Amino acid sequence: MKTKFTIITVLFLSITGINCFSQIAGTAHDFSSETWAPAENKMCGVCHTTHNAMNEPSAPLWNHESTAVAGYTLYSSPTFDNHGGTTITDPSASSKLCLSCHDGTVALENFGGVTTGTTYIGSGSLIGGAGGDDLSKDHPISFEYTDALAATDGGLFTPSSAASGLGGSIQEDMLFNNKMECASCHDVHNKYSISHLLKISNVNSELCLTCHNK
Ligand code: HEC
Ligand code: HEC
Ligand code: HEC
Ligand code: HEC
Repeated sequence: MKTKFTIITVLFLSITGINCFSQIAGTAHDFSSETWAPAENKMCGVCHTTHNAMNEPSAPLWNHESTAVAGYTLYSSPTFDNHGGTTITDPSASSKLCLSCHDGTVALENFGGVTTGTTYIGSGSLIGGAGGDDLSKDHPISFEYTDALAATDGGLFTPSSAASGLGGSIQEDMLFNNKMECASCHDVHNKYSISHLLKISNVNSELCLTCHNK
């Protein structure tokens, strides 16, 4: 009975095309009931616009003001393998978009050209410490996770061939231009309905064990 209901619900959602709405609704990224939410494009407008998007590289029609941090303190450790061009860089692509809210340097309601907002992200979701610019205490992002790195490291699955569990390989499902980003582990739209907006549940460290062969 439960399966039947699920199948019918999924069918209904895919026919009506409201998948994204139903995924994001009620999550931490549903700003629709905030007084500062856009009047019309309530579910998406804080982050995306259809016209006159920001000139943010690799950003999908981006509408939110960029982070104010010019250079972050990056992750480093004696065992982090910087081999074969796998250099860690300042956050790129979608990670930079996350940090536009999550490093706490830009107000949440600074979108669509507004720059005078006063509501900042709560401390429980702040990444980058008090100044917002310290990424040295977080899982490394914005570096290439290649087959060569896996071979050198010895404790990582081969990204081009190892299954992610999401339908394709790690490379296809979790990397962006071969790079690790925030969105390697998280789905900003809550596509998978897993707590902390994760792509793979981390019960029994399942998420970690997708890439780390430990
Ligand atoms: C909290 C910010 C945020 C909200 C709200 C949001 N998005 Fe996104 N969206 C992103 C980010 C960041 C990306 C960049 C790629 C990624 O991380 O998945 C993205 C990527 C996308 C993409 C391109 C990649 C893909 O997943 O297909 C589409 C299309 C998209 N969003 C549509 C929407 C729509 C439609 C809504 C509203 C129902 C919405 N988004 C709400 C942040 C947001
Ligand atoms: C427009 C601002 C904005 C953008 C852009 C944004 N977030 Fe968030 N995010 C928030 C807010 C606000 C919260 C809730 C914070 C709170 O209540 O403390 C949140 C919460 C979260 C949470 C916690 C979810 C939970 O259920 O506890 C995660 C994980 C997260 N965001 C990841 C991301 C990632 C990854 C990206 C980029 C792909 C991103 N966010 C982009 C504003 C944003
Ligand atoms: C390697 C996987 C991974 C990467 C990369 C990653 N996260 Fe997370 N994140 C997690 C896991 C797992 C949790 C939940 C458990 C925890 O808090 O440690 C989490 C928790 C969070 C939370 C707190 C949510 C809560 O409910 O307490 C936020 C906000 C968040 N991540 C945002 C980000 C942002 C922004 C980035 C990129 C700068 C990022 N994450 C990169 C795996 C990751
Ligand atoms: C999408 C793949 C992926 C996921 C998921 C992932 N990691 Fe990683 N992680 C990597 C890669 C690649 C490196 C870089 C390894 C290197 O170059 O030494 C790394 C680095 C690390 C490091 C630092 C290693 C060092 O030598 O400094 C730790 C610790 C770590 N990950 C723990 C975790 C934990 C815990 C989780 C689960 C919450 C997790 N990772 C999830 C891919 C991933």
